[in-house]
Amino acid sequence: MKKIAPSILSADFGRLAEEIQAVEKAGADLIHLDIMDGHFVPNITAGPILVEAARRATKLPLDAHLMIENPEKYVEAFAKAGANSISVHYEACRDLPKTLALIAKHGARRAVAINPDTPVSSILSVLNQVEMVLVMTVHPGWAGQGFIPSCLEKVKELNRLVKDLALTLDIEVDGGIKTSNIGDNAAAGANVFVAGSAIFKSANYAETIKAMRTELSGQQIG
Ligand code: DX5
Ligand code: ZN
Repeated sequence: MKKIAPSILSADFGRLAEEIQAVEKAGADLIHLDIMDGHFVPNITAGPILVEAARRATKLPLDAHLMIENPEKYVEAFAKAGANSISVHYEACRDLPKTLALIAKHGARRAVAINPDTPVSSILSVLNQVEMVLVMTVHPGWAGQGFIPSCLEKVKELNRLVKDLALTLDIEVDGGIKTSNIGDNAAAGANVFVAGSAIFKSANYAETIKAMRTELSGQQIG
């Protein structure tokens, strides 16, 4: 199933609950929460308190994307705050299998994220230990950047690998996703689409999500 996950990084944080409820009403499938620590990425957002606030605002699944060093220290807090899926970066984990096991232990879906410069081969050994792979399609840290076209090849490569290994997992793309490129990403094999600025900076969230779904409806996952 193809899912649209608005990233609240581009929402009005002063009206966070209202913004989350607006995208829920507009047809969002998940709420994507970007957690940044000022070390793994230069930017800082907020910690489990943000997930807790989002949890109170919606029943939709919360997709926590941890762009932080030593994520293993915080997995439990994010799970307890209400995250349904937790993405940890390959580049930030000293012991990735252990960190993924910790996510499962705390009842959340396991996801591994890779930066644009990280090859798909680096996560080959953990593909059977995750429910989702997050392919960054911009360099993490900021909303509103341009999609990096070469990342499409990585999505295709990952999709082929997942099929060859007969695994079932979600492929999420994150960064610069818009109505104009969502179809290409679906054709490459992605099925979860994070969109921050494309949704929250648009005049009508429901129209934007609908336009994205129209693009997706023509695409069969390759
Ligand atoms: C970037 C974040 C993204 C970001 C996407 O580091 O991981 O989730 O919010 O924003 P857009 O869709 O505007 O590129
Ligand atoms: Zn993200």
